[in-house]
Amino acid sequence: MKLPILLIALVAMVAAKSAPGRMAARYDHFRIYQLTIETNLQMEELKKIHEHISIHFLNELGAIGHKYNVIVGPLFHRALEKTLKFLDIVFEVIVDDLQKLIDDSAVGNDSKMEWETYHSLDTIYEWIDQECAAHDYLECKVIGQSYEGRDIKSIRLSKRPGNKAIFLEGNIHAMEWISSATVTFLLNQLINSEDPEMQRLSEEYDWIVVPMVNPDGFVYTHEVERLWRKNRRPNGYRNESGDCFGIDMNRNFDYHWGGAGWNIDEPCDHWFGGEKPNTEVEIISLQNFVSSFEDGYIRSYMAYHAYGQYVLLPYGHSNTEFPPNYEQMKRIAAAFSDAAADVYGSTFTYGASGLLNYVVSGAAKDWAYGVKNIPFTCTVELRDKGTFGFFLPSNQITEVGLEVTAGLKALVNKAAEEGIFD
Ligand SMILES: *[C@@H]1O[C@H](CO)[C@@H](O)[C@H](O)[C@H]1NC(C)=O
Ligand SMILES: *[C@@H]1O[C@H](CO)[C@@H](O)[C@H](O)[C@H]1NC(C)=O
Ligand SMILES: [Zn+2]
Repeated sequence: MKLPILLIALVAMVAAKSAPGRMAARYDHFRIYQLTIETNLQMEELKKIHEHISIHFLNELGAIGHKYNVIVGPLFHRALEKTLKFLDIVFEVIVDDLQKLIDDSAVGNDSKMEWETYHSLDTIYEWIDQECAAHDYLECKVIGQSYEGRDIKSIRLSKRPGNKAIFLEGNIHAMEWISSATVTFLLNQLINSEDPEMQRLSEEYDWIVVPMVNPDGFVYTHEVERLWRKNRRPNGYRNESGDCFGIDMNRNFDYHWGGAGWNIDEPCDHWFGGEKPNTEVEIISLQNFVSSFEDGYIRSYMAYHAYGQYVLLPYGHSNTEFPPNYEQMKRIAAAFSDAAADVYGSTFTYGASGLLNYVVSGAAKDWAYGVKNIPFTCTVELRDKGTFGFFLPSNQITEVGLEVTAGLKALVNKAAEEGIFD
């Protein structure tokens, strides 16, 4: 009895996705359930649940003792709840209508760049071009094109010769809109803030910013599928629904590549790390750009992501092996965390990503540390802790920008004290 309904829903979904004019997928009455997984058995069963329930995992399944958010459509609410109860999995409906949440965190007035709403790629890029034209200490360069031919833009701010540089990476994951919003917020502070401390940071350090590593995926989240994570290259695999697209680019860097990570080897899933490392033109452009600077110039590399409020340090591939200056990196991350919490009380947990989150290989921060020898690298997971998750309302963008600005100031000062820039 269930099958025909499922088939109709599937056909309707496929039709909507391939319709001319690119109608965005809708999530009316889809719920987000938050599951607390306490035993290995529950985890094993959860991993198989898609066999009878249409489910979208918002987080990679990793260690037990964690909460995991999943999206389930109205046709499957009852079946899911029944299964969860049967498995003794504690759950909570944290979002009753995902479409409403998506609408509340949609792009608002996109006519001009500001940080009260999310923006389209065009508006972000237009703003970058305007700032570049207006300030001669900004050097703006297209570092390469995405698979679908969109520019990947970079901005280097340098007001003084001899400075060391800090690198900010944004939106490698398409759906994490708060990432590019925050990175552009920071850049705007560095360029336009009247705050003397911010002006000092923009004098004494060079800043290299790539706010949009994944423009194809980003445009796709605006036009077709808000939940998209990877880039958009057809990856050569197909399943019953057709061709599968994209690589999780933060699993494709060549440092202990492919060692670990849930579904890192599932081509049609959101976390596919590629068939081998360095296959994606976007991250090859990024790597070449980083490598184009002389060794020792870039002293910190920060990749901005959502969500969970973490400062994740190397390594990702192991929870038993730690970087030589791990304790030093922890002190620097602690400075960020303390200062960020002072602003609105948001707490950022810090430590090795393999330890705090789950073991996963091929991330940018591990490559920057392990291959490029940059002495302080991290992934910053921005707000929140899972209430809104990837769909953080736009009225929080400025708050996130301000807390991260405070965190960043403290981080840079601590890193300087620790000799990172010497
Ligand atoms: C959108 O923003 C622009 C510039 O900030 C403003 O002039 C315009 O009135 C706004 N439009 C709407 C519909 O709010
Ligand atoms: C095939 O993969 C896509 C993602 O590329 C997924 O949305 C879809 O549910 C998968 N289909 C089946 C039948 O597993
Ligand atoms: Zn991410």
